[in-house]
Order: sequence, then C-alpha cells, then structure tokens
Amino acid sequence: MDDRERREVETALRLRILGSAAGGGFPQWNCNYRLSRAARAGAAAISQRTQSSLAASVNGRDWVLFNASPDIRQQIAQTSELQPGARAPLRSTPIRAVVLTNGDVDHVAGLLSLRERQPFAIYAAAQVLAALQANSIFNVLDPAIVPRRVLPPEGGLKICDANGRATGVTVEGFTVPGKVALYLEDSTLPEADFSSDKGDTIGVRITGENGGGSVFYIPGCARIDAVLRSRLEGAACLLFDGTVYTDDEMIAAGVGEKTGARMGHLAMSGETGSIAKLANAEIGRRIFIHINNTNPVLDENSPEHAAVRAAGWEVADDGMEIEL
Ligand code: MLT
Ligand code: MN
Repeated sequence: MDDRERREVETALRLRILGSAAGGGFPQWNCNYRLSRAARAGAAAISQRTQSSLAASVNGRDWVLFNASPDIRQQIAQTSELQPGARAPLRSTPIRAVVLTNGDVDHVAGLLSLRERQPFAIYAAAQVLAALQANSIFNVLDPAIVPRRVLPPEGGLKICDANGRATGVTVEGFTVPGKVALYLEDSTLPEADFSSDKGDTIGVRITGENGGGSVFYIPGCARIDAVLRSRLEGAACLLFDGTVYTDDEMIAAGVGEKTGARMGHLAMSGETGSIAKLANAEIGRRIFIHINNTNPVLDENSPEHAAVRAAGWEVADDGMEIEL
C-alpha cells in the first residue's frame, strides 16, 4: 500500500450498525407476537436485533455513536472497536461523542450506562438537550466531563471529543417530519397532535474527512416531502426508518392501538410509503433500520421481505458494516 492509498483507507468513512431494531428490540421482553416468538426460538431466517444505534469512524480509533440505546452495554460487548484498546489507560474508550437524533427512550437511555466519569461529548438539537436537562437522572453525566453541545438545525459540524479534538466525522443535522418523545406527549390534550416539524426529530448526513460519499441516517421520519427527497438525491447510502411495513400493522397484529403515522413513522409500503416515495431517487445503497418487532420483513422468508429486496432495499442486521 502506498502513502496515498493508506491515507484514503485512513479517511474512508466506516459505519457499523450496532442496533437495527426499533424501541423494545427484537424480541421485545413482553411480546408474544409470532415474530418475537420465532426470534426467541432461534428461527433460522429471523435474527434477533438490539435497539437503534449506529457507530461511525474514519480512522478506526475515534468513534462517534449515533443514538445511545438501552442495549448499549451489549452492543459495546459485541464490537471490539468500541472497547478499550490493549495498551489504553485503565479507564478509556474509543467512543468520543454521541449524536442524538431525538429524545426517545430507545435513543437516550443508553447514556445512563456511560456514566463512569468518562469524557465524551453529546450532540443534539436544542429541544433534545432541554429534555436531558429537565430529567435530572442525566446529571450522572457531569457536563464538566461530558459536555452537551447543540447540533444546529442546518449546516455541517465537525464532531469533536470532550476536549474539542476533531474525530474526523462531520455531521449535518436537519429537521424531518416527526413527533415529540412519547414521555413528552401531554395526555391532558385528548385530540392533541403530537407531530413536530420543528426539530424534535432530526436526520443526519454523515461524511468523513475526505469529503467523499455521504450517508444519511434517519431512524425516525413521518413523511417524505419534496425537500427531503431532493436532499437525499445523490447520497451514497441511506439508512432509513423501517419501523413498520404497513401503517396499521400494530393494530392488525393485535399488539397496539397506534398507527405508524401516530408514532411518527412512515410505513415502507403503500402509495405514500418510503419505497414508493424514493423509487426513482438517485441513492446508492438504501437500507431499512429501526425495525419494529411487528414488521414482517424481519422474516427473511416472507413475501414482504422479498418485496423490499426487489425494490432495491436492504434490511439491516446488527453488526452490518458499511464502508465508503
Ligand atoms: C419510537 O421510535 O416511536 C419510540 O422509540 C417509541 C418509544 O419511545 O417507545
Ligand atoms: Mn424509536
């Protein structure tokens, strides 16, 4: 390998899907639906999955996490790159920063597991930082050790560690149609619409130092409008909300009363679904993430899984690696 090739390898963006399931994971602890049952029984075509999270690095030494799931301890245990190096100090981590895409429990609860007075930085939209601020349990992460930084609604930002040293990962956050976090819904407002287009849910565009291909990570999104569609044009890779296959899937399965839309998640199928809405977009790889335990695509032998594949989409697994 010559110097130029070595530099390119060192600056290529590496991504690893730590958790590909939606909130609750797969199987979910209290779920007795056929898919959770099959996953629990070890069915060959139905893989277990942990909750929603992604890791990114350009040099293999400094890692940025996107969302901190309740399964983060297991995810780190399964990912040697995220563990202290053999010659590292007695307390150390290659995790330099955590970027949050919303304040949902499946995306922030893992922060509490990172509470050993270990420096790293948290980046999130102002509303999400306000939710952390309002929940004093997050004070176990002393802001003097774990600084909290605002990810502005538009514009790229170099992600840095707690001391301000660049990780080599650049992130551009942007508002997507979404919803406030479940625990922030005001149940005294029976007819209330909890949807939000104001930054409670963001998507991120992730790039490495070489400015090469960009990856979009959008684990929650209620709608694909013209603005979002044009933003995604030309992406090397899209990791997109794959919570439900059909909007009324949880109702049809008998496990809940909410539609995907009510939860701030766009269905994969249907005229306004993500597959149709992005059918002719110029996007390299397109991968569904944040998959709910009712989604039939979790069964690799299902017609829905075949339909998704035929439409050019992949269904993420935990541990899946992407290099750009
Ligand atoms: C979601 O993605 O809709 C949330 O994770 C739901 C939840 O907080 O359980
Ligand atoms: Mn979620």
